Amino acid sequence: MVKPFQFARLPMIYFGSGKISKLPEIVSCYGKSVLLVTGARSFMDSRRAGLLFDMFGSNGIAFKHVPVRSEPSPETIDETILKFRGSEPNVVVSIGGGSVIDAGKAISAMLGKTGSVREYLEVVGTREHPGTKVPFIAVPTTSGTGSEATKNAVISQVGKEGFKRSLRHDNLVPDVAIVDPELTLDCPPEITAASGMDCFTQLTEAYFSTKSNEYTDALALEGIKAIKRSLIRSYNHGDNIDARADMSFAALTSGICLANAGLGAVHGLAGTIGALFDIPHGVVCGTLMVPANELNVSELRKERSGEAALHKYAILGSLFSDTADKSATYYVDFFLDYLRAVTHSLDLPMLSSYGLTSDYLPVIAAQSDVKNNPVRLNTGHLEEILRQRL
Ligand SMILES: [Fe+2]
Repeated sequence: MVKPFQFARLPMIYFGSGKISKLPEIVSCYGKSVLLVTGARSFMDSRRAGLLFDMFGSNGIAFKHVPVRSEPSPETIDETILKFRGSEPNVVVSIGGGSVIDAGKAISAMLGKTGSVREYLEVVGTREHPGTKVPFIAVPTTSGTGSEATKNAVISQVGKEGFKRSLRHDNLVPDVAIVDPELTLDCPPEITAASGMDCFTQLTEAYFSTKSNEYTDALALEGIKAIKRSLIRSYNHGDNIDARADMSFAALTSGICLANAGLGAVHGLAGTIGALFDIPHGVVCGTLMVPANELNVSELRKERSGEAALHKYAILGSLFSDTADKSATYYVDFFLDYLRAVTHSLDLPMLSSYGLTSDYLPVIAAQSDVKNNPVRLNTGHLEEILRQRL
């Protein structure tokens, strides 16, 4: 029997090569003044940006530009809001990676509000966001976070008193997502690897999450099939548009899955690590995939109640192995072997190369929320996961 579930709203999604050309027409539905959020370089220097701005001009669209250099901090958002107070745009458009989309999402949510965005963040803030915002269009140029389909914006403050927390409301799902794989063709291999592992982790963790349901499972499996076809191919052959389209699809799908099913131990740890160290989110996720899944499998095998999750591990193994008539145990082990091979092929770095030492393990383990993981893990387990990738 299909279990009861609820499913969050989605943006209007335009998916496919060349869909970026629809942006001026879509913007015009909201008005003629745009706040354009992009990365510090990349898109703004590209030929595509010139073509887009010409189209804005011929459609009478005026835009103001906000460059975002890294994962957005409260200061980044607050300064932007202060700058545009009293001259609010009709629509906010983010063209960039996950940080750029999160920044635009937070800016669209904070325009017209008083106080700092920090006051509205989960755990560190005390105010509830009312869910009102300026319309927001997300245009990803990497295939990773899936933020184009989620209701939260991750805001980070790195350091001893650091945090990595979300501004979250059902209404913050972007109004429109334009997912054009051509925009990811210039993404360099190391970012392709990190962002690809982020969306692979998101799909896998949503699939195994205790909050997963038949609907999110169906989507996660389609996303994981795209990962199988194209994670390594997009890393080795970045100019292959078919591989890029697969990864854009996987990233979008991972966002939809995580928004509805939640995530597991890797993302619990990644959130805590991201507050303490300046390590790319996808690198943390990618490097922890092997030890986290090895531990999950070994703990699930000790418990009778682990059968359902082990069955899911076997489904993933059979998907990656392309063989029939093997045992469930064979397929579970095959999936773990596949993860080890991917870690090697993508040359995923160890955490110590970013300054993370064993001294931090108890703090990270104690502060990490892993409640949706398919098997209960204690702080000792979490330290063990981290230790294997120090
Ligand atoms: Fe992630």
